[in-house]
Amino acid sequence: MSSIFRLDASIRREGSVTRAVADTLESTILEELGASTEVIRRDVATTPLDGSVWGTAAFAGYTPEDARSEEQQAALAVSAGLADELVAADALIFAVPMYNFGVSQHFKTWFDIVGTDSRFAPGSTILAGRPAFLVTARGGGYGEGTPRAGWDHATGWMRRVLADVWGLDLDVIETELTLAEVTPAMAELRDLAREQLAESHEAARHSARSVTIKLSPAA
Ligand SMILES: Cc1cc2nc3c(=O)[nH]c(=O)nc-3n(C[C@H](O)[C@H](O)[C@H](O)COP(=O)(O)O)c2cc1C
Repeated sequence: MSSIFRLDASIRREGSVTRAVADTLESTILEELGASTEVIRRDVATTPLDGSVWGTAAFAGYTPEDARSEEQQAALAVSAGLADELVAADALIFAVPMYNFGVSQHFKTWFDIVGTDSRFAPGSTILAGRPAFLVTARGGGYGEGTPRAGWDHATGWMRRVLADVWGLDLDVIETELTLAEVTPAMAELRDLAREQLAESHEAARHSARSVTIKLSPAA
């Protein structure tokens, strides 16, 4: 039986582009691999982690095991639980929007806490080579030649930590201009925005099929 880890970070439950594209990805994977595939869900936006866990767990790592306080033990138990979810997965989906030109604070907190588990210490290869998807969305446009080129400080960091630090075999599906539908000043970009969204769903279906070939028992 295959196991998929899915993390969501959109603060919207309704109308979320990252959730919708990740749904397409997930449902295509489940169609291809069969209903017995397990999905381990972690929604860091609707169930945020306590940010104070990170500092406590980070210092607990420098404290001898038998000298750790109850608070430190509890913090490390949180990070171990989050790390277990990742280690158990054959493929991973991260659905994380851009907020305020940067990364979702909920996702950053989650990443920082996972990093306090000893299995994710610097140089860790525990997830190396596993297929993974970053589904991201931005309200505006940040392509070369646009006024805000260079202002996207989210996607580069997420690629860096998922692909370079953890070594995941990462496929990134990006949708821009998601605010065009509701922003009068972006009205002329609506057709382009719809096109991009359709392309992201198609990319999700395509990527899902290629990952299921890797995960299918005969592969
Ligand atoms: C609080 C907040 C801050 C945002 N900041 C930015 C931003 O800096 N740049 C941008 O292009 N879009 C920004 N957006 C728009 C989101 O990136 C966009 O709506 C995206 O589609 C959100 O993901 P979702 O559709 O999965 O909810 C922001 C949205 C919210 C709610």
